[in-house]
Amino acid sequence: MPVPKTDILLTQQEIMHRVKDLALQVTRDYRGKKPVLICILKGAVVFLSDFMRYLQLPVEIDFMAVSSYGAAATSSGVIRILKDLEMNIENRDIIIVEDIVDTGLTLNFLRETLLSRAPRSLKIVTLLDKPDCRAVHIKVDYCGFCIPDEFVVGYGLDFNEKYRNLPDIRILLEFKS
Ligand code: IMP
Ligand code: MG
Repeated sequence: MPVPKTDILLTQQEIMHRVKDLALQVTRDYRGKKPVLICILKGAVVFLSDFMRYLQLPVEIDFMAVSSYGAAATSSGVIRILKDLEMNIENRDIIIVEDIVDTGLTLNFLRETLLSRAPRSLKIVTLLDKPDCRAVHIKVDYCGFCIPDEFVVGYGLDFNEKYRNLPDIRILLEFKS
C-alpha cells in the first residue's frame, strides 16, 4: 500500500495504553451492569475491537452507520442513518463508541436519536476529540486523546475510505486520492 505523506501523531503503543486505561475506567463505572456498546461505523471498528477486549463486563454490541461527510475532508453537517441498530435499546445502558468528535454534529444527532428510544442511560466514549472544531456543545464522557485541529487517518479513520488499516494515527499532510 502506498503510504501517504503523514506525521505520526499517536503510536500503536500509546493508543494501546490509553485504550486499556479507558476500558479499566468503564469497567469500574459499569460494575454490575450489562451495557450495550454501539459502534459507529466505519471509523470506530478498530477502536471497538480493542476496547471491548479490555472491558471486563458482560457487554453486547451493535452497529450504526450515519453519513455526515462526503469525499471532502470537511463537515457538511447533513446527517442520515445509513444502517440502524438491530437491538431494542429500551431500558438498556448504552455506550456510544466513536472514533473522533469534530464539530459534534454526528454525536449530537446520534444522542438525540438514541435517547428517543428510552435507554436507561447513555454515555459516549470517543478515542479522539478535536475540541477546537466544535459547532455544537456535546458532553463526551470518556475521551482517549484531545488532538489539534488536523485531519488524521489510521486506526480506523479514513480519508476517502483509505488508510483505515494503518496501525497508528497519523496527520495527513497531503490530500490526494
Ligand atoms: P463531526 O460530526 O464533525 O463531529 O464528525 C465526526 C465524524 O467525522 C467522525 O466520526 C469521523 O468519521 C469524521 N472525521 C472528523 N474528523 C476526522 C479526521 O480528522 N479524520 C478522519 N475522519 C474524521
Ligand atoms: Mg465516525
